Amino acid sequence: MPSSSRPPTAISVTSGNFRRSFTGAMARPFLGCALGSVLLAASLAGAQSAAESQANGIIGVDRKREARVESILKQMTLEEKIGQLVQYSAGQPTGPGTGRSDYEEMIARGQIGSLFNVIDPHQINAYQHIAMDASRLHIPILFGLDVIHGFKTEFPIPLALASTWDPAIVERESRVAATEAAADGIRWTFSPMVDIARDARWGRMAEGAGEDPYLGSAMAAAYVRGYQGIRLDAPDSIAACAKHFVGYGAAEGGRDYNSTEISEHTLREFYLPPFHAAVNAGTASVMSAFNSLNAVPSSANPFTLKQILRKEWGFRGLVVSDWNAIGELIPHGIAVDGAAAARKAFLAGVDMDMVSSLYHDHLQQLVSSRQVPLADVDEAVRHVLRVKLALGLFEHPFVDEAAAPKALYHPDSIALAQIAAERSFILLKNESGSGGAPLLPLKGTLNLAVIGPLADDSSYPNGAPPESGPRVTLTAALAQRVGQEHVSRFKGTGILDGSDDDIAAAVAGVQKADAAILALGESPEMSGEAASRANLGLPGRQQQLLEAVVHTGKPVVLILFSGRPLTLPWAFEHVPAVIEAWLPGIAGGPALTRLLFGDTNFSGKLVVTWPRAVGQEPVYYNALNTGRPAGAVDLTRPPTDVASRYVSRYIDEQNAPQFPFGYGGSYTSFSYGATAISAARLSAGELNKNLNTKDGVAMTAEADVRNTGSRAGDEVVQLYVRLRGTSTAQPVRALKGFQTVTLSAGETKRVKFRLRPEDLAVWNDRNQFLAEPSKLSVWISPDSARGTLAEGEIVP
Ligand code: NOJ
Repeated sequence: MPSSSRPPTAISVTSGNFRRSFTGAMARPFLGCALGSVLLAASLAGAQSAAESQANGIIGVDRKREARVESILKQMTLEEKIGQLVQYSAGQPTGPGTGRSDYEEMIARGQIGSLFNVIDPHQINAYQHIAMDASRLHIPILFGLDVIHGFKTEFPIPLALASTWDPAIVERESRVAATEAAADGIRWTFSPMVDIARDARWGRMAEGAGEDPYLGSAMAAAYVRGYQGIRLDAPDSIAACAKHFVGYGAAEGGRDYNSTEISEHTLREFYLPPFHAAVNAGTASVMSAFNSLNAVPSSANPFTLKQILRKEWGFRGLVVSDWNAIGELIPHGIAVDGAAAARKAFLAGVDMDMVSSLYHDHLQQLVSSRQVPLADVDEAVRHVLRVKLALGLFEHPFVDEAAAPKALYHPDSIALAQIAAERSFILLKNESGSGGAPLLPLKGTLNLAVIGPLADDSSYPNGAPPESGPRVTLTAALAQRVGQEHVSRFKGTGILDGSDDDIAAAVAGVQKADAAILALGESPEMSGEAASRANLGLPGRQQQLLEAVVHTGKPVVLILFSGRPLTLPWAFEHVPAVIEAWLPGIAGGPALTRLLFGDTNFSGKLVVTWPRAVGQEPVYYNALNTGRPAGAVDLTRPPTDVASRYVSRYIDEQNAPQFPFGYGGSYTSFSYGATAISAARLSAGELNKNLNTKDGVAMTAEADVRNTGSRAGDEVVQLYVRLRGTSTAQPVRALKGFQTVTLSAGETKRVKFRLRPEDLAVWNDRNQFLAEPSKLSVWISPDSARGTLAEGEIVP
């Protein structure tokens, strides 16, 4: 079975003067921001890092390192070998665990390879001293943590970072996170989460890059480059961990930890590419998921872990299970006891056991009873030692406790967090409410009523450090902007609790103000792990508050804070201005204030389809057409006849989402000219000859994009394709390129994309990745639902 070793696809920008672009293999330095030297160094690092990290990293064979691995391995007892495959949480638990506390003794006996959830550098050094001084072979402990959107300097959540459509921002964010975490002694992050998420009920949508495999791949690679840097053994680099392998995001009903059923075709076409991109970018580790995949739990799945990850992709790093995922093989029903669970997970390819302790308890016996070959244990230990050596842990096992605090909350890091936040916000709606000019940006000195439970809240989702750092809330930032005397603050309601009196007080406050800023949505704990929702409206009494405030007739700006899209049809009909702010991180308040007053323009676009109704979920743009597409049927009305009824539709809801994937508004407007392609006829044979070659180009596609408004703006220009006549049905559209162009008022740029042969190949009916004779449609467009179309064909 040929593998699609799809390297990240390159996109070229031929129109000059660009600020942001995605080139897949490398993120260009961001030219438009005047950050300090730290970030400049980080961005330059980014420009070289892909190739370097391949050479340095876990993928390439480093002979010297391999020799060291073998020499250590030779000296190890079976107990010490198994010790390297054992990991415990020695701090804040993020799930039900084993509750051990004898880590010191175990480390001294060489029985622990990794600890996580320890964030105090002093404690880290204390454990490390036991490993280095008291254990027989002096193998350092690898300390891990969920560093998922910053360590101490909190960045917007990953879903928000992806909404920038800017891998360079993500790479810089993860570089900052690595620098801070490494300064504390943490050299391994359980990030990026690269699960495709098509269902907003699933709370972990917040942790990933959304629903698209192409964008998800670009982001996955950017995270890996950022965390791992130019050299993994640099003191400010940390090992990445692409998770959760695989299919976890497809949990049935959006209910966390639920089962998944994903055909091999769909797995390869949609769910695997971001993992493959992370592996190609050199990720040191991969985490096996909780979910069962087609009835085989992902943490005991030899097809995904051995066949795909190791054999097809050549992954040489470390596979760690998710939290107690080996223990969970028992409730899954594929193991009746701990020994069977350990055997199945191990033989399937899970190297390291996170928390369950079942490798510690059973592997020795499994080896001596020949149920697990010793050679397989050796191979798993190689994976662990390779990562530890690549990190330089043997040479530099300890952290400089005195220096650690200096790496945190650097002003440049906070400035970057603010830029990332500004670019992650999505302007969903901006009208006047009274037929005049759009409400935003706000102008002049206004008396603002700031209302709602989230105007002063921090945004870290569950499992992350609680410290808030030098955070400026939205209320505080607005007061700094217009003067404290012009801001009145009303709670209105809590997130889940509330009273009529609080709502009445907020309404009275709005009546005295010029405009209301409503900060509503979800608390940070309502997204992330174990935070699935069956209802996607505003929790508690927030909808009631919203309606009461809107009914005052005053201008209302609704700012949504959430880890997922919320179904708010009433709001989108009645509120003039709506912004999605996600969970924006440490600089969210100032960032929002700058956008509200138009100091900078919106450029974020949705990376998930925004549903109208929960019943539409899972809803995603890159769906198949079905044999009965609704076509021209008016879906806003109930069916009245056979033609309008017997199509793929709901009888009580539109098919169309509230907002399509790729959508995002601006204070200016853009128009798109015709899409032109350089070749209307391509040969499948030629394309297949050049699949995944370094400089393979199938064709170029280009269009004029014009700023038709009165101020400058950044536009994320998107390229989609559709193929018809192939052996497997292909999505109605599939993203194959994106780039951000900056256009001053009235300016036009010709935006050009390069399509590579692999952008036009499909997973065929034999699960091979090949180009096939087909009709080709290409759109260059502002989102997944609009744009201009060019047509071509692929002949045999
Ligand atoms: C469980 C989560 O699923 C995973 O993403 C995380 O890395 C581990 N807990 C460790 O905290």
